[in-house]
Parts: sequence; C-alpha cells; structure tokens
Amino acid sequence: MELCFATNNQHKLAEVSAWLGDAFLLKTLNDIGCRNELPETTGTIPGNSRQKAEYVWTNYGVSCFADDSGLEVYALNGEPGVDSAHYSGSRNAEQNIQKLLTNLDGQTNRKARFITVFTLLLHGIEHQFEGIVEGQLLTETRGTGGFGYDPLFLPDGYDRTFAEMSIEEKNAISHRSRALTKMVAYLKEQIN
Ligand code: IMP
Repeated sequence: MELCFATNNQHKLAEVSAWLGDAFLLKTLNDIGCRNELPETTGTIPGNSRQKAEYVWTNYGVSCFADDSGLEVYALNGEPGVDSAHYSGSRNAEQNIQKLLTNLDGQTNRKARFITVFTLLLHGIEHQFEGIVEGQLLTETRGTGGFGYDPLFLPDGYDRTFAEMSIEEKNAISHRSRALTKMVAYLKEQIN
C-alpha cells in the first residue's frame, strides 16, 4: 500500500520505514511532487500535525501521515512546546538550550516531557497517535549524541540523558517511537 510521510527529513523516513516493513510503499513529499513548505500555524503540536497531514490529503489526494513533536516544561506552562524548534528565535539547538536554561534559572521544578503526535489520514479517515516520555531537565548539558534538547533531558528511571544514550536506547523509550509503535500497530491491523 502506498503511503506518504509528510516529511523530507531522510533520517525520520529511514526510521519509520524500518518499523513499517514491506507492506507499505513509503513516499516522501518530493516523491509525490510536493515542493511547498507545509503549513504549521495552529499553535499546538496536535494541531500542526493534523494541519500537515490535511494539506497533503487535500492537495494531493494521497493517504499520508505527518508528525509534530516538542518539549513541554511544566514550570514554564508547557513552553517551548510547539515553538521547540525555534525557541530562541533561530533553529539553533545550542541557543534554544541556552534560552531554556536561562528561563529555568533558580527553578526547582525541573519536570518536562517530550511529546510526538502522528496524524494518519488513511483514505481521508483521520487518526492521531500520541507518544510521551517524562523526565527532568538538568542544569547543564551532558552528552554529545542525539539532537535538540537531548543533552538536557534525563528520562525518568534513567541516569543518562538522551544525548548520552545510543540511538537504539533512545528509540526504545522515546516519545517518537512510542507514537510510531501505536500508529504502526493500527496500520498493520488495517491491512490484515
Ligand atoms: P519535530 O516536530 O520532530 O521536527 O520537532 C520539533 C523540535 O522539537 C525539534 O527541532 C527539537 O527542538 C525538539 N525535539 C523533538 N524531538 C526531540 C528529541 O527527540 N530530542 C530533542 N529535541 C527534540
């Protein structure tokens, strides 16, 4: 079955392809001829995830799914949330981390969570799948792996940050893989 993943991020594509297996022919935005930047203007993570999937379905008529993720910090009322990628005003991870540390200066409540929402539009029928990983934010960065806020994030039950874990270890517990597992289970049910 043909399915478009509303991304041109090859890293994400490879990860999702591995989970989906041969039953699905995964296409990128480029593959379906979509060269436009997808809209992300709803102000929420589930909203942006839905908006991107609906854009593809409406304009290209292809069954598809889209994802949106972010870091929600409890003491900052869920910030940076939907603004995670460009929290500091640019898409620079170091500057984003610096802004977060400054905003949390002196704060004892360091609780945070990563969230991913996948929106699947299968023949126009919509389903959303959420994955969450809870943890704590350190006062300084640790580790060199991963991306984004990984060096600050200590998942609950672990003594290493996401940036100190191998990709396999992170994938076993990450928000993205939790959401993806749910969506893949659903998709596999649909074809059986
Ligand atoms: P996206 O929607 O997956 O592109 O994620 C948006 C932003 O959230 C990223 O640019 C990162 O700043 C942050 N983020 C999402 N997932 C992760 C993660 O697994 N580790 C660190 N930062 C993440």
